Amino acid sequence: MRIVLVGPPGAGKGTQAAYLAKNLSIPHISTGDLFRANISQGTDLGKQAKAYMDAGDLVPDEVTIGMAEDRLEQPDAAHGFLLDGFPRNEFQARALDEYLQRRSIALDGVLDLEVPEDEVVRRIAGRRTCRNDSAHTYHVEYKKPKAEGVCDECGGELYQRVDDAEDKVRNRLEVYHRETEPIIDYYKQQNLVATISALGPVAEVTKRAMDALRRE
Ligand code: AP5
Ligand code: MG
Repeated sequence: MRIVLVGPPGAGKGTQAAYLAKNLSIPHISTGDLFRANISQGTDLGKQAKAYMDAGDLVPDEVTIGMAEDRLEQPDAAHGFLLDGFPRNEFQARALDEYLQRRSIALDGVLDLEVPEDEVVRRIAGRRTCRNDSAHTYHVEYKKPKAEGVCDECGGELYQRVDDAEDKVRNRLEVYHRETEPIIDYYKQQNLVATISALGPVAEVTKRAMDALRRE
């Protein structure tokens, strides 16, 4: 399956993607995680992305699209993928469509996670992220690690993302409404969108997501 996951910051895209990717045996591709890995490795790409990310703004399209396409070229993505955080504006959505058309493949569905803004703020404020791998995330109330401050999966140190500060979150939400929400209509015109509520326990949301994807 080839799936795109959309939803506001803190909706639980990364959390759900980890389970969905496992259930569907496809790779979880998060452009945010790819940027953070580049930043921690000190690459040129990471240097180009850092200031935009810290401010909660979008990294320029020319950097992002090239990185996403390179990742899609990896052999593990040949038979399916779950994109998390890409595309994030209409220009990227069109670039992805052109990329897929060139390979005579198409998306199977777009899963839209719906969460009220006050819950988004609660989720982001309590999130803790692993320094080794930003796909490993926790929450001080909803998903506690076994030992405080330590990642269950790899023993990495848990920290709070710079862009999880309140003023950065406000900007990320504005960017989401302005830039990213319009792609939901773009994909609705292709009949690809399934909207589900992302409220409630993580496992319940996963079940809702799997049910929605089976109907796609
Ligand atoms: P990115 O890393 O994609 O951030 P985001 O979209 O803002 O989303 P988050 O990762 O903050 O939230 P999430 O939905 O994954 O939620 P999570 O599962 O962690 O992007 C970061 C930056 O990179 C962007 O601002 C931009 O600068 C750049 N970038 C990335 N892609 C780009 C692109 N395509 N173009 C340009 N720039 C790009 O969950 C949040 C918290 O809630 C966690 O603590 C979790 O434990 C908890 N939680 C999850 N589900 C539940 C639940 N059901 N109940 C209770 N708690 C829950
Ligand atoms: Mg995420």
